[in-house]
Amino acid sequence: MLVLGIESSCDETAAAVVDASRPVGKRILSNVVFSQWDAVRKYGGVVPEVAARAHVEKIDPVTAQALDQAGVSVADLDGIAATTGPGLIGGVIVGASYAKALALGAQKPFVSINHLEGHALTPRLVDDVAFPFLLLLVSGGHCQTLLVRGVGDYQRIGTTIDDAIGESFDKTAKMMGLSMPGGPAVEQLAAQGDDRAVPLPVPFKGRAGTDFSFSGLKTAVRRAVESDAGHRPEDIAASFQRVAFDSLIDRTRQAVQATDGPLTALVVAGGVAANQTLSVKLQALGTELGLRVVVPPLALCTDNGAMIAWAGAERLQLGQPEEWQAQLGVAPRPRWPLDPDAPGSTGAGAAKA
Ligand code: KG4
Ligand code: ZN
Repeated sequence: MLVLGIESSCDETAAAVVDASRPVGKRILSNVVFSQWDAVRKYGGVVPEVAARAHVEKIDPVTAQALDQAGVSVADLDGIAATTGPGLIGGVIVGASYAKALALGAQKPFVSINHLEGHALTPRLVDDVAFPFLLLLVSGGHCQTLLVRGVGDYQRIGTTIDDAIGESFDKTAKMMGLSMPGGPAVEQLAAQGDDRAVPLPVPFKGRAGTDFSFSGLKTAVRRAVESDAGHRPEDIAASFQRVAFDSLIDRTRQAVQATDGPLTALVVAGGVAANQTLSVKLQALGTELGLRVVVPPLALCTDNGAMIAWAGAERLQLGQPEEWQAQLGVAPRPRWPLDPDAPGSTGAGAAKA
């Protein structure tokens, strides 16, 4: 089961080939990611139009490289999967149209993939994780806990009422004049600081419910940055990171307790999952709750093509190839919640994923 996956929903142009018939650890034949970091640094963030143009330039060479490194041709593939949302619509259109054209030309099944489903199923690509598991999805555009009951069967447990946690790392980095993307820059600086030096409120800690909030913390960080108390930047970074993760862990504990029945694991996905301090805190939570914790390798936490290829393979394995031809008609969409029944889902912040 050889699947090509294409991802272009934010600022990464990515393509990968996955062989789903191989055992864990041997499935990724190639995983090529072109990150538009130069542009992101230049403009201080992702500019949708700039990102879309870069996708147009890179999609063909990145895909060619992924096929080449895997040693396969389009004719060898069992399917072609692409992100069709949610995300920055210009980029999504580029990747989805390219993948559809490739599929149509080669008469291969096309699989439309929700970017968030790609993150949600990644733990099953790299490890033997059975359903149901609790997913903590932490990225630049999302901060959610989801009960993953099966492929396409998701129940949202908690979500952010304002900013996503990755966004709060990016905004903190910006306020402190650090380089973008903000997450790795804040993590690096925080490693040299005292995480108790700057008093900051822990959002929602101890409150009933499962939702997250990070906008109050952002304001508190701004005050600390602008104050004349003489806080060292590394102490602000360390204190922000501790408080943000204390809140995240508290809400995740509530989410585990809010789900009925046994869970096989607590899995984390999205760009913020690359953070080593978060990984340590999640392991401690897993020990406390008697729950296995799965953190995918760094390169699979941030946006990539392998997660889309794998989600495509999971879907192809469940369905008849004929019905996938109909997916050529699936239109790209900027918003696409994994759990459409969750309150407020249609409006839930999905401009980025
Ligand atoms: O999932 P992702 O690659 O892209 C989308 O948001 O779609 O996540 C990117 C986010 C950014 O906000 C970035 O600052 C954050 O993940 N991030 C991190 C780290 N690496 C990336 N946040 C905290 N610590 C990190 N090491
Ligand atoms: Zn993502």
